[in-house]
Amino acid sequence: MRLSDDVLLDVMARFQAEMVKGLGRDTNPTATVKMLPSFVRSLPDGSEKGEFLAVDLGGSQFRAHQVKVFDDGRQSSQLESKSYPTPKEVTQGNGAELFDYIADCLSDFMETRNLKNKKLPLGFTFSFPCRQTKLEEGVLLAWTKHFRVRGVQDTDVVSSLRRALQKHQDIDVDVLALVNDTVGTMMTCGYDDQRCEVGLIIGTGTNACYMEEMRHISLVEGDEGRMCINTEWGAFGDDGALDDLRTEFDRELDLGSLNPGKQLFEKMISSLYLGELVRLILLKMTKEGLLFNGKVSTALLTKGKIEMKHVSAMEKYKEGLSNTKEILTGLNLFPSEEDCVAVQHVCTIVSFRSANLCAAALAAILTRLRENKKLLRMRTTVGIDGGLYKTHPKFAKRLHKAVRRLVPTCDVRFLLSAGGSGRGARRRLDAALAPFLLPPGTLREVRDKMRAELEYGLKREAQGKATVKMLPTYVCGTPDGTEKGKFLALDLGGTNFRVLLVKIKSGRRRSVQMYNKIFAIPLEIMQGTGEELFDHIVQCIAEFLEYMGIKGARLPLGFTFSFPCRQASIDKGTLVGWTKGFKATDCEGEDVVDMLREAIRRRNEFDLDIVAVVNDTVGTMMTCGYEDPNCEIGLIAGTGSNVCYMEDMKNIEIVEGNEGKMCINTEWGAFGDNGCIDYIRTKYDREVDEGSLNPGKQRYEKMTSGMYLGEIVRQILIDLTKQGLLFRGHISESLRKRGIFETKFLSQIESDRLALLQVRRILQQLGLDSTCDDSIIVKEVCGVVSTRAARLCGAGLAAVVEKKRENRGVERLQITVVPLPSAVCSFALFSTVLRETVKELAPQCDVTFMLSEDGSGKGAALITAVAKRLHNVGQK
Ligand code: BG6
Ligand code: BG6
Ligand code: GLC
Ligand code: GLC
Repeated sequence: MRLSDDVLLDVMARFQAEMVKGLGRDTNPTATVKMLPSFVRSLPDGSEKGEFLAVDLGGSQFRAHQVKVFDDGRQSSQLESKSYPTPKEVTQGNGAELFDYIADCLSDFMETRNLKNKKLPLGFTFSFPCRQTKLEEGVLLAWTKHFRVRGVQDTDVVSSLRRALQKHQDIDVDVLALVNDTVGTMMTCGYDDQRCEVGLIIGTGTNACYMEEMRHISLVEGDEGRMCINTEWGAFGDDGALDDLRTEFDRELDLGSLNPGKQLFEKMISSLYLGELVRLILLKMTKEGLLFNGKVSTALLTKGKIEMKHVSAMEKYKEGLSNTKEILTGLNLFPSEEDCVAVQHVCTIVSFRSANLCAAALAAILTRLRENKKLLRMRTTVGIDGGLYKTHPKFAKRLHKAVRRLVPTCDVRFLLSAGGSGRGARRRLDAALAPFLLPPGTLREVRDKMRAELEYGLKREAQGKATVKMLPTYVCGTPDGTEKGKFLALDLGGTNFRVLLVKIKSGRRRSVQMYNKIFAIPLEIMQGTGEELFDHIVQCIAEFLEYMGIKGARLPLGFTFSFPCRQASIDKGTLVGWTKGFKATDCEGEDVVDMLREAIRRRNEFDLDIVAVVNDTVGTMMTCGYEDPNCEIGLIAGTGSNVCYMEDMKNIEIVEGNEGKMCINTEWGAFGDNGCIDYIRTKYDREVDEGSLNPGKQRYEKMTSGMYLGEIVRQILIDLTKQGLLFRGHISESLRKRGIFETKFLSQIESDRLALLQVRRILQQLGLDSTCDDSIIVKEVCGVVSTRAARLCGAGLAAVVEKKRENRGVERLQITVVPLPSAVCSFALFSTVLRETVKELAPQCDVTFMLSEDGSGKGAALITAVAKRLHNVGQK
């Protein structure tokens, strides 16, 4: 009974051949695997709504259901069910009685659910092989499992049910569809996961259905699209195709069944038979003196005494031997410990074989699907139901493992068919995330709109009106290598506030040395008064000078100030408005260099020569410009998002002169503040915006930068939790806290190498108690949010490089962009997606990304050095 992978691959190949045989018009009549067309052509698409009835006959339970599907945009549905017994008189009596019984139960159900006055459509799940010519008709080919009702075979079961229902004057039910349980399961799961295209039952019986190409189904007219095929794989081997694998126990079991010679594959797999197989094996072992001292009990001799539930219980190894002992004692056997161990072993071998055989046939179906789609690798979902799969402690795992081994080219999701609240979960998740998946056309629109805003911002008439401000920086050239000396630099506005000492050497020993110290800026200072903020900055400078032992020297200083400033020269900068996490009072509209000078004067401890104020993008571009004069674009995707680039003077209307170039700080973070990209903003973006320090401002930045991505994720998670899709529907205290999702966590969670267990650990650290499913969802949400950020950023960058190309009037442009390895940009997914997007949207530009490790401080010092040199030249 132990089957090696080679044997399983062989079984898989045999089943593949059976499927082909069943599908062929000429071969079908003699095929054992019937491959029955179901007339179901597509999965539910979410537009379904209304109230339905269903009866479900053929599994371990006979049930009536009432299903309500709501069209409330959330794809929710409600399921109410009731089970009815199926005594032997029903399962093995005569046809008329069976259908009367079904109709009676349905009438009772409608009575209890108060539905008698309604006219309702009914779906009939009838889990036996039926030949259908349309959805609402099916001729029973043969009974299987524990059913053998006289006078039904070869007749249409739908008309029989209709006739029985007509006898009930008090109910009005319309039988609209006949489906096999495999098909019903595929549809249930397909409602949650659109990728579902296989339905699998491993319960009382076993069977699978899948979506086949119409052109391969010769029994049905038409070549377009797909149709679900009920394989009826239980009959595999009925022509002897598996005889080499069947044991004496399989043969004995078959002889004692209701349908000898039929459903031979099913009899090696499904729960109706596994207990019996175990019994037959134990009986033989006992008779041979290998068990129970050779003493056979009456119970052991009785057919059906060992059931699937016993086998499952005995395989719960964690519970030791107690279950096994109890069950065997109940059969009047007196097991020793060794007997118990041996019996456990038998159970495992029998159920393991079942999982393996199932996997082999499923592998054949998956391979066929993949080949139909002409794919090398395929991602798909298998919807599953059935008692053996659901309740046996190890079955599911064994099946999954074997399938993954047998078809390594398929990434399979096994989705358990869940009634009630679970329904529509996947669909609701997809619906929440769909607005984040920007199609290429939309991205091109974003690129073009950005381009238009860039052009507009350069115009004279746009001053004070443009959303993308295109601020001149008065940085006109790159360093020429003659710069030298000691400089101070301040770097304010990113995650860290830094003070730096930069030593630049020129000539042959040309080099740059840097010393820096990071200081914290407490929230109350960021959002206090302007004076407090600048006093704090000067306090930090004082500490740094002290620390470096250079308090006496009056060093030239470059001030990286990463906020929008309108400049009239390189050492003047009026703050247009705070962005990101800053909101100190009395600063907007003021010259930040003056404010810094005044604070130095207030402290009256040292003096500094403030030579330049630069944006972080500009500093960053210069840092690399020192090594590579091709660096004409600086990009920051950090706490905030911004780009600067070298623009031709003749295009900058508000600055005098037409010669040469000047660096423009685009301040593209404000792109969209005029509403031009509102159509791609989601409700989560709006929530994040409303909760921010600057509502309505920096709309593009809020979709692309580190300060906001975590907040977007948090808003989505809250919404999903409210919908009951996450954290068991419970919104924890920590989830309510703004800012718990730092970008750092986001990039950790999203990193591909991190296994889900670690994701869970991260969530735990955040105080979010998650299940494994939760971590999968959280990971997906993080991925979707950061991918959108990178694509939007890429669309913006494509507009900038295209503009540069047209400025230069060349067919192809080689250009270097310097992105900072900041919080957002350093995660692999972000930078990969960013690059891909630029390539896609600016195909005529070859963009090299040159990562600057040095931050913007070096660049600020270099700008200071250049300015100082030019200043000195001017004075002379
Ligand atoms: C049930 C389905 O959940 O599972 C039935 O509703 C199906 O349609 C049955 O036949 C199969 O499992 P079992 O173990 O009840 O035979
Ligand atoms: C730093 C630069 O490396 O990156 C700063 O020196 C810049 O000038 C910052 O503002 C941007 O990244 P983040 O992630 O700190 O906002
Ligand atoms: C039997 C039936 C089949 C059903 C399966 C699972 O194999 O013939 O139609 O799908 O059991 O219930
Ligand atoms: C914000 C600032 C901008 C800065 C960017 C990156 O967008 O307004 O000046 O360059 O953040 O730090």
